[in-house]
Amino acid sequence: APDVPVAAVQAHLTELGRIADANGGNRAHTQPGYLASLNYLRGKLDGAGFTTTLQQFDSGGTGYNLIADWPGGDTGDTMMFGGHADSVLAGPGINDNGSGSAALLEVALTVAKQKLKPAKHLRFAWWGAEEIGLVGSDHYVESLPENQRAAISGYLNFDMIASPNGGYFVYSSEGQPDGSPALEKTLTDHYAALGVPTESVDLGGRSDHAAFARAGIPTGGMFSGAEERKSPGQAKKWGGTANRAYDPCYHSACDTTDNIDATALDRNTDAIAAAVWTLTA
Ligand code: PHE
Ligand code: ZN
Ligand code: ZN
Ligand code: ZN
Repeated sequence: APDVPVAAVQAHLTELGRIADANGGNRAHTQPGYLASLNYLRGKLDGAGFTTTLQQFDSGGTGYNLIADWPGGDTGDTMMFGGHADSVLAGPGINDNGSGSAALLEVALTVAKQKLKPAKHLRFAWWGAEEIGLVGSDHYVESLPENQRAAISGYLNFDMIASPNGGYFVYSSEGQPDGSPALEKTLTDHYAALGVPTESVDLGGRSDHAAFARAGIPTGGMFSGAEERKSPGQAKKWGGTANRAYDPCYHSACDTTDNIDATALDRNTDAIAAAVWTLTA
């Protein structure tokens, strides 16, 4: 898989920061900064040859998911990669989840640049209204016709991947209804090859993979940590500050472009690319 240029991902984050600044300081569900964010993502994806769809839903106001299909591959064997595109009202949401949104966008643009011809069908998704209760992804899974649900072979989720005092947490496949050691291994192998230690973490239902897992679809993902504190042992192996939150600006106004660890952003974006290349081949 290619090394995705982190500068391009950072440029997307700068743009998402501008969008928040121009729209009252956030990119939250029902707020103008949300649709402006989706329009930015969609414009890039359309320009690169993706087939994009806005899926509308109602949850205390109109919400939207953005779905981007890369034409080709076996649509009966579809791999999905996604993350939420909305922020909380309190801030611009650049780590949560501009980071996952921007990384997924640049990986998608790299797929197009490299003219990837996967055997499986490849679909990206940016979910709405995650921050008010995982609403967009839940709506997507629940509204899929049974045959389309059965056609999804796996879903990988990326929510907060550049926490400023973060770690490398790979979603555990254990304890999931249809836990997939293969999805987890694809990610852990990538970091192992770089010599970057990872921890396997059980996130329960805290992000958009939850609806897929409930539907019996194998899920996985990557996370750099939120409000919890880094342990001394983790600081030793990953660097950073012990007894301080992985993301001290979690759900706050200070979750700006300054709240991003560029090394984590780079490594985790490359890991998404590795997963796309490996799991759709
Ligand atoms: N979903 C949480 C949020 O957006 C953060 C989170 C991400 C928690 C991933 C666990 C795993 O605020
Ligand atoms: Zn890189
Ligand atoms: Zn959040
Ligand atoms: Zn989040």
